[in-house]
Amino acid sequence: MSEPVRVKNIGLRGVAVADTKISFIDGEQGVLIYRGYRIEELAEKSSYIETAYLLLNAVLPDARQLRGFSGEVAAARHLPGFIIQSLKKWPKDVTPMDVLQASVPLLAMADPDLADETRDGNVRKAIRLIARMPSVIAAWERIRKGREPLPPEDGLTHAGNFLWQLSGERPDPEIARDLDVCLILHADHTFNASTFACREVVSTRAHIYAGVAAGVGALSGSLHGGANARVMKMLREVEAEKDIAGWVKRQLDKGERIMGMGHAVYKTTDPRAKFLEEMSLRLGKKLGLEKWHRLSAAIEDAAMKEFERKGKTTIRANVDFYSASVYHMMGIPDDLFTTVFAASRIAGWCAHIIEEKFGEAQEKPMLYRPSTEYVGHYCGLMGCSYTPLEERT
Ligand SMILES: CC(C)(COP(=O)(O)OP(=O)(O)OC[C@H]1O[C@@H](n2cnc3c(N)ncnc32)[C@H](O)[C@@H]1OP(=O)(O)O)[C@@H](O)C(=O)NCCC(=O)NCCS
Repeated sequence: MSEPVRVKNIGLRGVAVADTKISFIDGEQGVLIYRGYRIEELAEKSSYIETAYLLLNAVLPDARQLRGFSGEVAAARHLPGFIIQSLKKWPKDVTPMDVLQASVPLLAMADPDLADETRDGNVRKAIRLIARMPSVIAAWERIRKGREPLPPEDGLTHAGNFLWQLSGERPDPEIARDLDVCLILHADHTFNASTFACREVVSTRAHIYAGVAAGVGALSGSLHGGANARVMKMLREVEAEKDIAGWVKRQLDKGERIMGMGHAVYKTTDPRAKFLEEMSLRLGKKLGLEKWHRLSAAIEDAAMKEFERKGKTTIRANVDFYSASVYHMMGIPDDLFTTVFAASRIAGWCAHIIEEKFGEAQEKPMLYRPSTEYVGHYCGLMGCSYTPLEERT
């Protein structure tokens, strides 16, 4: 029997572990494509709901299909009563990402299709997840502030309804459209850490909710989705700073990372960051809050000069850098930023989970089972001799 090929690649950079038909990135050229369509095209012309349909079904819907899909999402937005009752019992000071992750199994318990492992059954579950994640986030925000959760409002867009459920105020249409564009920009990103976590979990034939719970956990980390909240923390820290370039240099000299900059795949400008930068500037002008864009741009400028000086010319602002000021100006609390990322990425996660379960891009689904190189204590294949407790010093 031949020995299996053993290739060690810590962090799996550049290792293709599956085929996918969902999205594509050219990190050198700064191109992101969902199901064949460039992200710029979708951000300008599509809606989040249409993009979610595209990710799940591989084609753009016609008008009737889009109406049907929007209606199914709208109908699924109501949270079952027992979930609201559970949320009310939880400690109010826990992080919203922990609340979101803990809510996913509750959503599973409320799903009548949980045991239906057909493709259609999984698409119905995906629709409920897309519909209900924003409802959970908004309900939690209200419950922790001592207010009653609000029911969804028909006639608003996906993003508009989220802003309504969060604040109880009719959203400004321009801000609702901007948030919808943010959701499109974050909806998928190939095999990022959270998507890989989702796919790895469902490769065991676990259900979609188990995969999504893993995805939410992976997204919460500060090197992944948690970066946007850390960017806002940094902006608040430098708010009173006179010498931003000096502050950036000191951070980098200490070996700290500038949150929202750098990317494992993009070695040039992140195509999503351009939209968010423009949005941050425009919203700042509209709301009289230009300082957040000004501070972000000053940090970016200083960091780029420092990176250049150190020969790290590929580190640029990523999707999280300007989304922080954008979400802040939309009235979203800092600690909800990563949950908004999750409420968008849910469409991509579900599309990937379905692709993984049904082997839609490769010959057959296969359980992920990478190997490791053992570098620990070793006494040969017979094993070390066990010393009884009383004889150990
Ligand atoms: C996202 C990230 C993990 C990708 O990094 P990567 O391509 O895997 O590269 P590494 O983490 O190995 O970093 C490579 C080098 O660039 C530096 N670097 C990368 N991003 C940096 C940042 N934001 N600030 C300062 N230095 C950074 C690292 O310190 C490392 O330097 P070294 O070689 O001297 O040790 C990294 O850029 C980062 O930590 N960014 C900040 C967090 C963030 O914004 N995450 C959201 C991503 S969408």
